[in-house]
Amino acid sequence: MKRILVTGGGGFLGSHLCDKLIAAGHEVLCVDNFFTGRRQNIHHLMDHRNFELLRHDITFPLYVEVDEIYNLACPASPIHYQFDPVQTTKTSVVGAINMLGLAKRLKIRILQASTSEVYGDPEVHPQPESYRGNVSTTGPRACYDEGKRCAETLFFDYHRQHQLEIKVMRIFNTYGPRMHPEDGRVVSNFIMQALRHEDITIYGDGMQTRSFCYVDDLIDGMYRLMNSGPDFTGPVNIGNPTEFTMLQLAELIIKMTKSKSNLVFKPLPQDDPLQRKPIIDMAKEHLNWQPKIALEEGLDRTIAYFRTQLS
Ligand SMILES: NC(=O)c1ccc[n+]([C@@H]2O[C@H](COP(=O)([O-])OP(=O)(O)OC[C@H]3O[C@@H](n4cnc5c(N)ncnc54)[C@H](O)[C@@H]3O)[C@@H](O)[C@H]2O)c1
Repeated sequence: MKRILVTGGGGFLGSHLCDKLIAAGHEVLCVDNFFTGRRQNIHHLMDHRNFELLRHDITFPLYVEVDEIYNLACPASPIHYQFDPVQTTKTSVVGAINMLGLAKRLKIRILQASTSEVYGDPEVHPQPESYRGNVSTTGPRACYDEGKRCAETLFFDYHRQHQLEIKVMRIFNTYGPRMHPEDGRVVSNFIMQALRHEDITIYGDGMQTRSFCYVDDLIDGMYRLMNSGPDFTGPVNIGNPTEFTMLQLAELIIKMTKSKSNLVFKPLPQDDPLQRKPIIDMAKEHLNWQPKIALEEGLDRTIAYFRTQLS
């Protein structure tokens, strides 16, 4: 049994990770400042003897005794990370420095939740880990994209300079229960609009594609990465390579929710990537991982969750 620190443990992915670690018999120290996370995500764990919650902002140093760190703290949706872009960069960069410093002091393994956004608006499709990206340093998404890129750099420098055991995973679009219903991400947007029978907003012509990974698959990949051999650092893509256009996704959600919603088209926001799809050969080879849950099955569970969030 390990004592494991999960930063951002009150968020969408973090709360599922806490569930997985508790189920595997570990102790979890969940650290969150509840900027985007919600107490209801971890409410069911509050009385568990192996679960502890600490309200803390990772841009400030943290002194705790743990055996492993999963660093997930960071707002992930554009609405949230653009709300206070300076804080977003601080969380990615200063937060990473603080967590790496803690891992260095304790000589423990640390995993970074990086993102497919490090590829920016990719000129290479689909994206292998070796692709270096096409990222604006000055645009509205830069606080997140460049913050995450700098965090990756810090992880690899701590690895080279201090022999720290690091794991870097590049997460592609993930969806599932406990996503914030108002986070403006496409899956939550479409489902909430469909359940309320409101117009469904499509940006551009709807032909841009995304690949969506169900949360249970993603967390399984994250756990496998943390527990992989010491020589495997990543960065490794974890995501579902099956592509859908925004139009296909909207139509599927309308059908599954039996919604009366209509589609409306709006201009594409600045720097919005047209295509994003992972190559997951490295995850298959090193982690024996690939997604198992098909879009319809995952959407079914997600729609059931969002029904409980309707007020
Ligand atoms: N969900 C996705 O599709 C996706 C894709 C790529 C990368 N990621 C990465 O995975 C991680 C988790 O994403 P998520 O979707 O669960 O987002 P989320 O917003 O639900 O969770 C992030 C959590 O971090 C907390 N947090 C933010 N700033 C903090 C700070 N300074 N100190 C302490 N806690 C802080 C928030 O309150 C929240 O609970 C993020 O690092 C994100 O960049 C997610």
